[in-house]
Amino acid sequence: MSVLVTGAAGFIGYHTCQRLLERGETVVGVDNLTPYYDVSLKELRLSRLAAHPNFTFNRADIADRAAMTVIADANPEVDSYVHLAAQAGVRHSLTAPHDYTHSNIEGHLVMLELARRSGRCRHFVYASSSSVYGANTKLPFSVDDRVDTPISLYAATKRAGELMSHSYSHLFRVPTTGLRFFTVYGPWGRPDMAAYLFAQAIMAGEPIKVFNNGDMRRDFTYIDDIVSGVVGVLDNPPADDGVSPPYHLYNIGNNRSERLMDFIGLVETSLGRKAIYQFEPMQPGDVKETAADITAIQRDVGFAPTTPISVGVPAFIDWFKSYHGL
Ligand SMILES: NC(=O)c1ccc[n+]([C@@H]2O[C@H](COP(=O)([O-])OP(=O)(O)OC[C@H]3O[C@@H](n4cnc5c(N)ncnc54)[C@H](O)[C@@H]3O)[C@@H](O)[C@H]2O)c1
Repeated sequence: MSVLVTGAAGFIGYHTCQRLLERGETVVGVDNLTPYYDVSLKELRLSRLAAHPNFTFNRADIADRAAMTVIADANPEVDSYVHLAAQAGVRHSLTAPHDYTHSNIEGHLVMLELARRSGRCRHFVYASSSSVYGANTKLPFSVDDRVDTPISLYAATKRAGELMSHSYSHLFRVPTTGLRFFTVYGPWGRPDMAAYLFAQAIMAGEPIKVFNNGDMRRDFTYIDDIVSGVVGVLDNPPADDGVSPPYHLYNIGNNRSERLMDFIGLVETSLGRKAIYQFEPMQPGDVKETAADITAIQRDVGFAPTTPISVGVPAFIDWFKSYHGL
């Protein structure tokens, strides 16, 4: 398999490339290294990927049609896509909305077009998000639930990506699978996400912001489990029976909704330091609880997350300490 991975310098993209390379696939990585968070972390991830002979990297914006066509023409053997590049983060979408339409809508369309025009796409797997469930109060969240009422522009662009993918599966028979990720954490994780922000503030002796007075629950999913799911899905493209579009959409989460305060407690224990709590009201666009119904991905791909937060959080903190030389 020759796989084009977008967002290769990102958190999930880096780990996905590692797993694919370890099992002998050829990987063409694409990323434009947006400065949304510390670019040196992205560069360090890339430097580790560069050690693999089967990895090539292209610095490019996925929304740049001309640049992406050049990459596609230079890599005609690509037959599979793991499209993870996006402007992520709910809160940033309140202040920089155009970053989201650029990467998540225009960029997503450019990627679908590449897959269609190649004429040899065996599977196009792409990242969606649990954010599409908005203020859904029916738990756990199921892919059969209606998701017509996004409460952030980030969620709206992720839902748009799902809808565009469906149209390409229907019209052009491109086999697509969307993955709605639920709060991913782990080594090499994102500095804008809870685990990292908490660890950083605790080590600096600064207060940690805890929203909704700590009354939040998240389906925290460990990165290794996520990557197993992504690769398992990649290996199982939706069949085309000539009638229904070759299109799948799955939740990919840990299937256990954890109390935010328990998660913070594990960060404190792993660091050996107590946090200073700064309780804040609910943030606009944020949701109180997420929980993934993963029945479909379990049934179709055998996805079975194995990492509880009691194992995953200490593993994240081990990496965090060594990364920061603590
Ligand atoms: N991490 C999570 O908990 C989570 C949850 C839900 C959904 N997701 C989705 O999963 C995917 C991967 O997320 P992540 O956590 O690895 O984020 P990340 O920000 O670490 O990785 C995304 C990468 O995409 C790159 N990128 C952004 N816009 C680009 C563009 N226009 N052209 C080329 N590259 C571009 C960035 O430079 C970055 O390296 C994203 O689509 C995100 O929306 C992640």
